[in-house]
Amino acid sequence: MERFLVTGAGGQIGTELVRHLGNRHGADAILATDVRDPSVWARGGPGAQVGQLDCLDADALLGTARDFGTTCILHLASILSAAAEASPYRAYRVNMDSLVNVLEAAAKIGCRVFAPSSIAVFGPESPRDPAPQTTVLRPTTMYGVTKVAGEMLSDYYHARFGVDVRGLRFPGLVSYTAPPGGGTTDYAVEIFHAAVERRRFSCPLHPDTRMAMMYMPDAIRAILELMDADSSSLRHRNAYNVSAMHFTPAELADAIRARRPEFEIAFEPDPVRQAIADSWPTRIDDARAREEWGWHHEYELPEMVDAMLQGLEGLRRRRAAVLAR
Ligand code: SER
Repeated sequence: MERFLVTGAGGQIGTELVRHLGNRHGADAILATDVRDPSVWARGGPGAQVGQLDCLDADALLGTARDFGTTCILHLASILSAAAEASPYRAYRVNMDSLVNVLEAAAKIGCRVFAPSSIAVFGPESPRDPAPQTTVLRPTTMYGVTKVAGEMLSDYYHARFGVDVRGLRFPGLVSYTAPPGGGTTDYAVEIFHAAVERRRFSCPLHPDTRMAMMYMPDAIRAILELMDADSSSLRHRNAYNVSAMHFTPAELADAIRARRPEFEIAFEPDPVRQAIADSWPTRIDDARAREEWGWHHEYELPEMVDAMLQGLEGLRRRRAAVLAR
């Protein structure tokens, strides 16, 4: 029977992945952990066992993974791109040390690993439209440096110790249940919060900055399908380009305004985020993922905008009803 240890479980991906894993395998088969106390992030119950775990503590990580009888570690703890530029040394330590601790634990107890990578592996020297699966990877951000190094470290543990580690180069992920934190693509989530709260949105990127994006249900399905795939078919096992849509802030704002005509936006680029976005591709070629394990996306921009607005408005109504009780 599979037993999943999730790190960073209180984050944007973890919140939704834990719920799916719990539905699929039962709450007893999932240990959802985060560096923060569960009382902060697990309110309402994530459908899993919960714990506090700092994956920079190698002994605690190994002990927890072993005691739980872990068959797969889903390592989601990470510092995202814009936050990493604010504290590069800390980002290096958190992103690299946690990953090597996870890979060491996996090698010792013989379990599988999912370790996400990112479109941040690409840099100004990579082709931008589209970014191929295999190309020059010389990122100019600390987040990108840790993601390229992480892919290589994962390759090493696979080749040297036989650890079955798999990963995806995620684009910006859009979702409404838990907020992203410190990413360059976060604007594509924050814009929806502003729209449903009837606030004017100050966009930290130029209107024409095109980036790759994906709606969270596709991202969760990508993780589950990659982990279910036959190992022998995976020639790019820990670093698959995956993408769904490629839009600019202006295009996203237009799609929102078509549904909420009162929505207002001002473009006030933040130099750090803009420089990061300008160093990333505008489109991603994910043909290898589509060929090797059948990746396909379901959500395009219009469906995502509808789902985000309806989902966030539903959440607001439920919260208002709870407060009114
Ligand atoms: N969403 C991430 C970021 O913006 C990219 O992996 O940092």
